[in-house]
Amino acid sequence: MTQPAVDLTPEAQTEICEALNQCVSETAVTTMLAQNFHWNVTGMAFGPLHDLFQQIYEDHFVGQDDLAERVKALDGHALGQLGVMLERSKVQEQDGHQSDKEMVRLLMEAQETLAVTLGGAGELAARHGDTLTEDLAIERGRIHEKFAWMLRAHLK
Ligand SMILES: [Fe+2]
Repeated sequence: MTQPAVDLTPEAQTEICEALNQCVSETAVTTMLAQNFHWNVTGMAFGPLHDLFQQIYEDHFVGQDDLAERVKALDGHALGQLGVMLERSKVQEQDGHQSDKEMVRLLMEAQETLAVTLGGAGELAARHGDTLTEDLAIERGRIHEKFAWMLRAHLK
């Protein structure tokens, strides 16, 4: 049965917020990664890649806000420190000197990583009956899989 945020045990809230902050961290690092590539991409596909990378970081900027604000709805502390985010993120930042193809590959892998992290957060929320966090995590996971597909299509 659905457990509204206020009815979750403090332990469940802590566990879910921890998972959500992991999602926030990886989303934020990927936001910067996409913006870095948006700025520094070169080659004959500059136009479409510049635009696609922008579409990704704009989506992620809103996504990280939604995830962090769900943490607040669960009475947790939203992680807002870049250094800590980088430390715990499975997605790593890059220097932006990669080729266009390498940028696409790195960003595709980041999307795949995010899809797994978000899916896991959704499963955790489901175990606690937190349907509303589960829904958010699933929605975000699906978006990351869509971006993974769009990036992967360039590499075939
Ligand atoms: Fe721009």
